[in-house]
Amino acid sequence: MNQPELTDDRQRGSGSQPLILALETSCDESAAAILRGTELLAAEVFSQIAVHGQYGGVVPEVASRNHLRALRPVLDMTLRRAGVSLQEFDAVAATAGPGLATSLMLGLSLAKGIAVALGKPFLPVNHIEGHLLSPFLLESPGPSESVGLVVSGGHTLLVRIHGTGRYRLLGKTLDDAAGEAFDKVGKLLGLPYPGGPHVSEMALQGDGRRFDFPRSMLNSGDYSFSFSGLKTAVRYLLPKHDPVPVADVCASFQEAVVDVLVAKTLRAVREARVDTLAVSGGVSCNHRLRERFTDACKAMGVRLLLASPSVCTDNAAMIGYVAALKLADAYPSRLEAEIEPSLSTAQWLG
Ligand code: KG4
Ligand code: ZN
Repeated sequence: MNQPELTDDRQRGSGSQPLILALETSCDESAAAILRGTELLAAEVFSQIAVHGQYGGVVPEVASRNHLRALRPVLDMTLRRAGVSLQEFDAVAATAGPGLATSLMLGLSLAKGIAVALGKPFLPVNHIEGHLLSPFLLESPGPSESVGLVVSGGHTLLVRIHGTGRYRLLGKTLDDAAGEAFDKVGKLLGLPYPGGPHVSEMALQGDGRRFDFPRSMLNSGDYSFSFSGLKTAVRYLLPKHDPVPVADVCASFQEAVVDVLVAKTLRAVREARVDTLAVSGGVSCNHRLRERFTDACKAMGVRLLLASPSVCTDNAAMIGYVAALKLADAYPSRLEAEIEPSLSTAQWLG
């Protein structure tokens, strides 16, 4: 099991901060986290990548059966690491959507059950909001005026953040998400599932300037993205080479994705006149993306908050963090909340 980084708060007295349990089961990671207020005490993630790898993608029924198997041990392990018992929680949170219905249902039902048994509030959390605010997790005092870029397997979003729960959508992908493009290119190249980390690894040995792949919508004047043409360009290139120069294809593809993400995001930061950029989601693990944002933000004098690698991919720490911020803002308990598998960005961000 992976263990997201911990802040050094375990010794801090309970004070008046609520003890929060959070569960995340939106896709194929079974995750639990325990926070004291916004401070992370313990977090565990059981990844099902090995199980789904043999099918080349996530199989929903297999994912839900594995959540059922994994949730209890993941929860027990997190409780042990935090040194707390179930009876001590002041609130329970879980991801409500978007995600796979049969996966969401397991985490949400378990979290609600615990909340009912304890007679404590239940908070449903939006998975994308979790990613969006994850770069603030180790920061105090939390979300501030900024621009957020979420780059995950399912989403590529640029968001103007004004504070907790106060967001405005600037732009999103019109077709594939950035992570989806990485995964599809990985598949075309015969790399294991999910392709993103493998493409990124191969790119380390490749020449990113060898193939001039398209930078779609780079100069579109808005904040929309498009990555499906890039994936198609890779598909057309492959039959022209034998053997395929895998490392150079990976590096050139990665360079094209990163060029567009960095250029459009920095333009959003400039035009919004903010001094903070928060980058999150699975693709924000990408070393080249982190390097390019680090250099560009340094040159521009922008404060860059990159989600810590342990909370880039799916985890419950980010869910607990959003719940903590909402509890602090006096959000009410929502025991009637249901799963929202296809919660769209438009519904969420208005
Ligand atoms: O945020 P996440 O765990 O799940 C979603 O909410 O979608 O993101 C998973 C995505 C996958 O597409 C995966 O291939 C991609 O993040 N990913 C990466 C890297 N690590 C994970 N993409 C590029 N480079 C990486 N190092
Ligand atoms: Zn995610």
